[in-house]
Amino acid sequence: MAYRSFISTSPDSTSAGEEPRPELSDIRRYGRMLVRRFVSQARAAERPTFRSVIAEHLGVPLADLPVVDEHWPAYEHVNVQAALDAWLEAPGRRHRLVGMADYRHRGPFGLADLLGQDGSMHHHGPRPGNVTRTSMPSGPAGRTRECLRAALVLVEEGPDRIALLLRGADPESEMRGVSVEAVANRDGLATAVTAALRQLALDLNVYRGQVVSFGHSTFGERSSLLRFHERPAMTADDLILPADTFADVRRQVVGVARNSDRLRAAGQHLKRGLLLYGPPGVGKTHTVRYLVSQLVGTTIVELTGETLGAIRDACSIARSLQPSMIVVEDVDLIAQERDHYSGQTPLLFTLLNEMDGLDEDADVVFLLTTNRADLLEPALASRPGRVDQAVHVDLPDRESRRRLVELYRGRLDVDLGGLDDVLDRTDGVTASFLKELLRRAAVVAADREPSADAALTVSADDLTTALDELLDTRNQMTRAVLGFREA
Ligand SMILES: Nc1ncnc2c1ncn2[C@@H]1O[C@H](COP(=O)(O)OP(=O)(O)O)[C@@H](O)[C@H]1O
Ligand SMILES: [Mg+2]
Repeated sequence: MAYRSFISTSPDSTSAGEEPRPELSDIRRYGRMLVRRFVSQARAAERPTFRSVIAEHLGVPLADLPVVDEHWPAYEHVNVQAALDAWLEAPGRRHRLVGMADYRHRGPFGLADLLGQDGSMHHHGPRPGNVTRTSMPSGPAGRTRECLRAALVLVEEGPDRIALLLRGADPESEMRGVSVEAVANRDGLATAVTAALRQLALDLNVYRGQVVSFGHSTFGERSSLLRFHERPAMTADDLILPADTFADVRRQVVGVARNSDRLRAAGQHLKRGLLLYGPPGVGKTHTVRYLVSQLVGTTIVELTGETLGAIRDACSIARSLQPSMIVVEDVDLIAQERDHYSGQTPLLFTLLNEMDGLDEDADVVFLLTTNRADLLEPALASRPGRVDQAVHVDLPDRESRRRLVELYRGRLDVDLGGLDDVLDRTDGVTASFLKELLRRAAVVAADREPSADAALTVSADDLTTALDELLDTRNQMTRAVLGFREA
């Protein structure tokens, strides 16, 4: 009966009771099939396994060889690769890469599993295969580095032999972070190598001094990746704030950063928390951008309400890559999110706890912004000391409005003959309202003078027309989105 399944390939086509009789050609075919199967099994047994490759490389018995491992969060993959590349380049060190096949969709495994005797792991588990790489962001402007996904690195240096298994985060195999596991042919070597890699990954950290934010990840916050951003270019002239507000913000963030060594030497704490609060459209985000532009060389980690789950990672980055600044914009969004059961606001308290957990003399700024200081006040008041200074960014006063008109006219030719009237009528508007006013006045002027060749000149009337439009009752919604507070 055993051969029946081979001979009658389609049992349905033969009616019941009518057994097909094997013919000589069938038997020959069956024979060939058996031989093929036998040969391929025999060859599979000889195919190198990770165990055999590593045993041959190390040249020592594998039994009881200690495996040393190091782990990093997923976003460190690029740093681990940079560390590995640098370490492998050292003179006198030679290496060979062995890729990996059939390792995904199989759950977690480690170097110890590959070294183990378990035969099923060898026949069905990961096998030596092609080296696969993945491109990871390594800097702003789209810079990337090729990173190994999963590979064995066989290293040789004089009499030393090391085998490293590097694996990146891979949801398919339940790998949440990056790991390097090492075995070597003499005591202490594997530990020394992984420690060297950890140090190099920190020294060569691609996030140091950059502006980064956490992106959304498909598999849990712990493994979300970091995005790079260009550092904005801004000068003090681009930010219109009352002189004392500007001085407060600048001293607390930039001033302390510039004098960190002297302050530290004098035993003063460097960690600082700054809250910018005020109505929408007055320039809180704009101020953040200005501060980021001034802190060249400072590591900036930006978080939003959605990515605040990564606050612990953000703090760990800020701690390792000082001087640094963590920006959390619109914290009120997380302050409103209450836990179903306790009524507490877990994210906000996590943030405050993390702020508290960082060393006092860490050169780290926490910069928070909010439109709703009233929502935050109870939490901040109940945990004093996290925020050292709350700066009220208010609607622009008359002098600020004059400067804003000046700033946003830019190179535009504007007749400012009626400026006083405009300033009188814009009491209570936001900075973004004035920005829009100038843009609108330019559009009105362009409409009035349709010839494309004529240079744009905004008359006092154009400015008034634009202002009338924006203040018109029909534009109530526009005013609202520009942050205008109706009287
Ligand atoms: N104080 C300011 N000085 C210069 N421009 C400002 C100022 N405030 C707002 N603006 C302009 O208005 C835009 C919106 O302001 P934004 O900083 O987003 O307000 P907020 O974060 O307080 O809601 C800014 O991108 C900037 O162009
Ligand atoms: Mg904002």
